[in-house]
Amino acid sequence: MVLLGEAMTVHFIGAGPGAADLLTLRGRDLIAASPVCLYAGSLVPEGVLSHCPPGCRIVNTAPLSLDEIMAEIAAAHAAGQDVARLHSGDLSIWSAMGEQLRRLRELGIPYDVTPGVPSFAAAAAALGVELTLPGLAQSVVLTRVEGRATQMPSRETLTAFGATGATLALHLSVHLIDKLVAELVPHYGPDCPVAVVWRATWPDQRIIRATLATLAGAVPEEVERTALILVGQALAQEGFEESRLYAGDYDRRYRPVGTDPRFPGTGS
Ligand SMILES: C[S@@+](CC[C@H](N)C(=O)[O-])C[C@H]1O[C@@H](n2cnc3c(N)ncnc32)[C@H](O)[C@@H]1O
Repeated sequence: MVLLGEAMTVHFIGAGPGAADLLTLRGRDLIAASPVCLYAGSLVPEGVLSHCPPGCRIVNTAPLSLDEIMAEIAAAHAAGQDVARLHSGDLSIWSAMGEQLRRLRELGIPYDVTPGVPSFAAAAAALGVELTLPGLAQSVVLTRVEGRATQMPSRETLTAFGATGATLALHLSVHLIDKLVAELVPHYGPDCPVAVVWRATWPDQRIIRATLATLAGAVPEEVERTALILVGQALAQEGFEESRLYAGDYDRRYRPVGTDPRFPGTGS
């Protein structure tokens, strides 16, 4: 029997970048145990929704306002039903989770968060690259250019990020390539490698490799919206040093080296 107002939880779950098997086991089990599933539009793959239990109320929230989404959650709360709330990729970036969590805190509705595979990691995997390479880049900047709905804080400019030389993972920006190139060439140079990964891990995934100088002409019109642009010398995957961690002469906790190791007797 379901008691009105019985404790329930809204489970925010990162649904991953596209391929249905890039969902965590925890996410899968929470979806399977929740009688209500709210999912954020076409970027959440149908294969992920297939874990919903029979009779589940499955709602695409893409056409809903925040108030309407909260009304769905409030109704589930009143019925004592757990909610699986799915957003693409991971929830820590551009998921609109923050505003939902704030409302839930105000309403005293419990929630938890299960991470997902972010699209920048899926894009790097599709390219087979490590984004942090010793001597080339030790930071990855996850950023975007300004959009119609979202202004950038004034100090978060491509010029400022570009001045660091870090690897850039540009989201929500494939429609503004000319602007990107103009702002990044002064810092990275025209020959800097760039990769565009469109719909990473979906069956129609596409990869475009270019340089900052050739990028504008290399991206076809149909490659829009769900694309990630990676920029930086690390994409070349050459000209970097090997990490010290695995160097034969590097004395470390799990591999003491020499006659006077720094961590004697702690290796296993
Ligand atoms: C609203 S944001 C969502 C980001 C998501 N929370 C994440 O963890 O990646 C949408 C943007 O993420 C990127 N994106 C999401 N899924 C992608 C995919 N499968 N392939 C390439 N880029 C993707 C694109 O830049 C797209 O414009």
